[in-house]
Amino acid sequence: MITLRVNGRDHEIDADPATPLLYVLRNDLALNGAKFGCGLGQCGACTVIVDKEPVFSCLTPISAVAGRPVRTIEGLGTLDDPGPLQRAFIEEQAAQCGYCIAGMVMRAQALLERTPAPTPADTRRFMSPNLCRCGTHMRILRAIDRAARTLQAGGDNKTVSSR
Ligand code: FES
Ligand code: FES
Repeated sequence: MITLRVNGRDHEIDADPATPLLYVLRNDLALNGAKFGCGLGQCGACTVIVDKEPVFSCLTPISAVAGRPVRTIEGLGTLDDPGPLQRAFIEEQAAQCGYCIAGMVMRAQALLERTPAPTPADTRRFMSPNLCRCGTHMRILRAIDRAARTLQAGGDNKTVSSR
């Protein structure tokens, strides 16, 4: 048994310690926001936050995150009550197919937690491991900038908490 702490809740997982975190999130915990894209650490669709770091959950064995705080997009808000980053992505219409978006939001979340007022260059550099096959990168960058400005203006700071 391995204890996974996901979005503030502990789960006892009976699985091979080498099982990728992504599989457990999706198949055992029904947290389907993170997506399987490449399975090779090359697209970012599976990005979640462990401690304060964005990680590729497709490459992360559950043994490596036992007892450490894991956050997924489901922890940032809900359909009825989206967090600032989620709202900004909606307002900027940053999704086309949407497959990359949960990973994008989680990497952006990690960025804004460490750099609340990123420069455009900061954002581009930090977001570069995550790819969007639909080509909405410009809208994604605008959404991150919008969320950063909202948070700096004292808006809802739900996404900067570590719940
Ligand atoms: S699915 Fe994990 S990086 Fe592509
Ligand atoms: S919106 Fe389709 S991959 Fe990014």
